[in-house]
Amino acid sequence: MQAGILGSGTVGQHLAVGLRKSGYDVCLGTRNPEKLRDWAADAGAGVRVGSFGDAAAHGELLFLATGWAGTENAIQLADPGNFAGKILVDVTNPLHFPTPGAPPEPALAYPESAGKHIQSLLPECRVVKCFNSITAAYMANPVLTEGTPDMFLAGNDAEANQQVARLGEQWGWRIHDMGGIEQSYLLEALAMLWIRYGFLNQHWTHAFKLLMK
Ligand SMILES: NC(=O)c1ccc[n+]([C@@H]2O[C@H](COP(=O)([O-])OP(=O)(O)OC[C@H]3O[C@@H](n4cnc5c(N)ncnc54)[C@H](OP(=O)(O)O)[C@@H]3O)[C@@H](O)[C@H]2O)c1
Repeated sequence: MQAGILGSGTVGQHLAVGLRKSGYDVCLGTRNPEKLRDWAADAGAGVRVGSFGDAAAHGELLFLATGWAGTENAIQLADPGNFAGKILVDVTNPLHFPTPGAPPEPALAYPESAGKHIQSLLPECRVVKCFNSITAAYMANPVLTEGTPDMFLAGNDAEANQQVARLGEQWGWRIHDMGGIEQSYLLEALAMLWIRYGFLNQHWTHAFKLLMK
């Protein structure tokens, strides 16, 4: 199966490696493929770097891992037609950074959310919000000493949600489907809490866990 990742930052890079380990043939998209030439050589066979359009065209399963301010531009550069009918896993957080060194603030407020906005930009795509409240290195490898963490997802298409849940479970998560894409605001609010905890404690290897009786 082929995966396309829009985003060349730490998230895009870790997802590329994780998806490759899960057997996907991966294309990672950026405006500047040259900057990742050495990284791609280290990543090895089955991972290549191209334009946003290359990644979106290549993937049967797509991931969106762009900085929020550049997300709409990245989608336009990728060509919205390349997303039709596909699953797009949205790991973005709609952040802005008004004060250097301080925790970011939400760039969108309830009932808006990045997931809902992206779904409205790509109505023929099946957007699934997931993996946005964990550090990049743990997205596809959530191995924590205190146990199996929980991750939430939201999306309008039940089959797409199940497919992303299966991938997350294969990676080591316990996944919970929270319903339609409009529930993304909950997942993005949870990420704000996750980020604030990280800033206050200078600790970025934390994840959420639901405890049940
Ligand atoms: N870092 C984490 O651990 C973490 C955890 C959970 C969620 N997230 C979320 O995941 C997303 C990616 O985070 P990140 O830390 O990997 O990287 P990032 O620095 O937030 O984003 C890097 C990507 O955004 C693209 N980009 C930035 N401005 C753009 C513009 N004007 N037009 C088109 N593309 C633009 C860059 O494109 P080029 O490649 O062309 O430069 C690059 O691919 C963010 O939304 C973040 O909030 C991050």
